Amino acid sequence: MQVVIAPTGAEVGRLAAAKVASVVERRPDAVLGLATGSSPLAIYEDLAARARSGRLRVGAVRAFALDEYVGLPPEHPESYHSVIRRVATEPIGLDPALVHVPDGSAPDLDAAAADYERRIRAAGGIDLQILGIGANGHIGFNEPTSSFASRTRIKTLAPRTRRDNARFFDSAEDVPTHCLTQGLGTILEARELVLVATGEAKAEAVAGMVEGPLSSFCPASALQLHPAATVIVDEAAASRLQLADYYRYTYENLPAWQRFDDGGRSGDGSTGAGTGA
Ligand code: GLP
Repeated sequence: MQVVIAPTGAEVGRLAAAKVASVVERRPDAVLGLATGSSPLAIYEDLAARARSGRLRVGAVRAFALDEYVGLPPEHPESYHSVIRRVATEPIGLDPALVHVPDGSAPDLDAAAADYERRIRAAGGIDLQILGIGANGHIGFNEPTSSFASRTRIKTLAPRTRRDNARFFDSAEDVPTHCLTQGLGTILEARELVLVATGEAKAEAVAGMVEGPLSSFCPASALQLHPAATVIVDEAAASRLQLADYYRYTYENLPAWQRFDDGGRSGDGSTGAGTGA
């Protein structure tokens, strides 16, 4: 796992976007995994700027969202269908026909989950999965004690997750109780993972993910099993990491071939690619 500590949230987003851009530059029809939540917004804004300026071609990019609420119609403003369209598909200029979100309104949710897995497989798998992390260590909506082998399925949202997400709804009771989410096993099959986290509220979850035991109690600790996982955090989210100085030292001394920070100069051929996992 490569851990990068950036000075600000904007820098977290810029570094993660540089990684995403390098994947799309290498493979114009790359398959991206998209996350919702506030954490990846800076990534999408940076990618949108690159696309607007013509530095990044995204017309053939395919994408799969991590999760969706059960019971919210796709047109509800807080459904992840709507959120992904609003924060990623439209600003970046992705082709909506190539952007997939689990169908949380399907009459048969088990069948919808199996169909989502099939669609990911048919696309050839996910090249790069963008992730945030919940304060309880969830990724996607894989709540604590989710199996590391889990696939896309129905999950019950933890009360803490419902409280955390209440800010997007008129009242706490309006937050759905269930979701469809890619499983930890699904996420671990992506060829590359980039997880971003900012703010003190994520510090404990980040420490559990990076330095805690491999345990489904902290679902994000599953990233320790992945050969190409990059975790990019700001100082506040890094504040509980015991080896923070080591991660800084490692990043400052990265060999050129492992660097992914292109200084915002995407498309000029100067970027290296790869991760030090
Ligand atoms: C949400 C999403 C996750 C996201 C997490 C953190 O509920 N399902 O994919 O990573 O919670 O959200 P935020 O980035 O807003 O803190």
